[in-house]
Amino acid sequence: MKYFKKIVSLSLTSGKTVAFLIIFIACEKGESQVAKPATLQDASSFPVGFAIDPTAMKDNATYQKTVLDHAGSFTAENVMKPSRINAQKGVFSFDKADYLIDVAQAQGKRVHAHTFVWYTNTAPAWMKQIKDSTELETALKTYIQTVGTHFKGKVASWDVVNEAFDNTTGEIRMASVDDKGQTLLNLGGVIGKDYVARMFQYAHHADPGALLFYNEYGQETNAKKLDAVLKMVTDFKKRSIPIHGLGLQMHININTPNVGIENAIQKYADTGLMVHISELDIAVNPAKTKDLTITAELLEKQYEKYKFVVNTYKRIVPVKQQFGITMWGVSDANSWIPGFCSCTDFPLLFDSQYKTKRAYDGFLDGLK
Ligand code: XIL
Repeated sequence: MKYFKKIVSLSLTSGKTVAFLIIFIACEKGESQVAKPATLQDASSFPVGFAIDPTAMKDNATYQKTVLDHAGSFTAENVMKPSRINAQKGVFSFDKADYLIDVAQAQGKRVHAHTFVWYTNTAPAWMKQIKDSTELETALKTYIQTVGTHFKGKVASWDVVNEAFDNTTGEIRMASVDDKGQTLLNLGGVIGKDYVARMFQYAHHADPGALLFYNEYGQETNAKKLDAVLKMVTDFKKRSIPIHGLGLQMHININTPNVGIENAIQKYADTGLMVHISELDIAVNPAKTKDLTITAELLEKQYEKYKFVVNTYKRIVPVKQQFGITMWGVSDANSWIPGFCSCTDFPLLFDSQYKTKRAYDGFLDGLK
């Protein structure tokens, strides 16, 4: 074996020789074919991430092992949102996020931070009550400066603004309540339609080394919103507003048309910015029925969709723009989808026992 190791180091420039040797070594181990890569991150040339719950990381050994084995990048699923960090005006709680960052640093994982500004229920209640434009602008600026400074040098990147555009109009959101009557943070209405640009400037000031992302959902199926994001990027470039990347959340399902997925990835790549598939999950229950029994057929459709998404990303996005793919959750036991749709679903790569699914093979096959 020593002899072969020597040849490997001598012939690293020759792809063919290396491939041959890998096969040879695999055969030496008694395997007839090249072994499957042991983990998602091993298999991938770009970072693979998960949305992570620090409490599960601490308390659940299987969850922790799955994350540490397979992830190259961490995103906090909730604990870096404003409602968690700054629930009370003037009081900042960083403990849970700091724990996650400590683990990431100890394990050599990247941290992508999510998110500075979001209009919905993860905005702190006290902030949603502010109706004066100067007061809200100051509150947001202070928040970004304080939080950005706290995590400076520890996070690679930030989602600066999440979901700014309205689904129907494609314009900046202007609603104060949602369709269930819940109060929203009406950013557009209170501080004006150009607020997104200013939030990027504040973020850049707070942490000049961080890559700054705009993050959005529904880009595969909502042409107006896709167009709005692209126009925003063109405008930001013209005005030298610091933006480095775009996040495609990609909460899709097994029936989401491939053409829409490919179009969104292509258009994002064409901006020249980094592209992050930032919250990937693929629901198998688009009808959102209460009780769904998972079948081999559904798992196979999910396999195909994962393979398509990963392969399209790898094929279309130039290597230097590949920020990575982040899974929104670790296993089907902790996906946010069932809670959100009030239905049964199995959207992730690992089942509720943390065993790999066909979807996992789909991810790996998409990388080939
Ligand atoms: C979700 C979390 O997964 C849930 O646990 C939480 O209750 C609500 O938020 N788009 C986003 C994410 O940008 O932050 C959301 O995460 C899912 C939709």
